[in-house]
Amino acid sequence: MTAPLEVSNVKKTYTSPKLGAVDAVKGVSFEIRPGEIYGLLGPNGAGKTTLISMITTLENPSEGDIKVFGESTQTNSAFTKKQIGVVPQEIVTQGFFNLVEILQFHSGYYGVWNNKERIDYLLKRLGLWEHKHKLVKQLSGGMKRRLMIAKALVHKPKLLLLDEPTAGVDLELRTSLWEFVRDLQKEGISILLTTHYLQEAEALCERVGIISKGSLVFNGETQGIIRKLTRRTVEMDLKSIPNWTLPEGVQLLGQRENRVTFSTPSEMSVGALLAGLSIPSDLLLDLKTREGSLEEAFLNVVQKGASL
Ligand SMILES: Nc1ncnc2c1ncn2[C@@H]1O[C@H](COP(=O)(O)OP(=O)(O)OP(=O)(O)O)[C@@H](O)[C@H]1O
Ligand SMILES: [Mg+2]
Repeated sequence: MTAPLEVSNVKKTYTSPKLGAVDAVKGVSFEIRPGEIYGLLGPNGAGKTTLISMITTLENPSEGDIKVFGESTQTNSAFTKKQIGVVPQEIVTQGFFNLVEILQFHSGYYGVWNNKERIDYLLKRLGLWEHKHKLVKQLSGGMKRRLMIAKALVHKPKLLLLDEPTAGVDLELRTSLWEFVRDLQKEGISILLTTHYLQEAEALCERVGIISKGSLVFNGETQGIIRKLTRRTVEMDLKSIPNWTLPEGVQLLGQRENRVTFSTPSEMSVGALLAGLSIPSDLLLDLKTREGSLEEAFLNVVQKGASL
């Protein structure tokens, strides 16, 4: 099956008289597999929106190649535009039209006429039905963002690019958007998501890429990066504290009376920890573990420069 998106050695240098040359993307490669939600993560200015602008053909890569469903975006941009739906990071507000009109115009832009059924479905699905006769300027920020999502989906794209779709969105709406994104995935749509909410990426994305200063520093399974770059915390309540020698890789984080907390490599099993500490099972009253998160892994890569 053809990959919905293949980005190969893509570079982007912006040049302007005032700023000179800015290397925004420095040789990035990754692909999105059919039906997956792929998370592109990175701090402000890392190059995420620049990559999305190149995928949507708004910007040309300075070097490298981007393929959407097997076709080069540069040589076949009409094909690319049909396959892709994009929710841009910046909300654009058109003041003079209501939601229905905007979605009709947008369908027309893709050559889709008589799109009422699809438009009604999207308005209902995104909780905009009762607002459909409002002008954009009469919408709240969260409603505007939902309208952007409806716009991106009018022509039933097969690849959806979401550039921070939940920025500034309240908790309830955020969780309903997650559900919606999962439903889109079930319909077979492949999704590229950029977000600063690491919890969101952890919940939605099987694979993530971490981009820092224009370079992709990680690309792979979300759980893989968590395992590799974070540790597990194990808290035990013991009847009494035996003498132990800490096994290799295990740290004692704290001890208060008979409650002890250890940090262990995430691949070390609890059984191996107990055996390594020589704690007999009848001494153990209770045990809790906490796995590392994508947020911890991300901070380790981006701030502390952990190597992968
Ligand atoms: N049109 C432009 N001309 C010159 N430099 C630009 C232009 N657009 C972006 N840049 C620069 O390219 C770099 C990457 O910006 P980009 O918008 O891709 O980052 P981002 O990862 O999307 O960040 P954020 O999380 O803040 O949205 C930044 O240094 C930015 O200043
Ligand atoms: Mg951006």
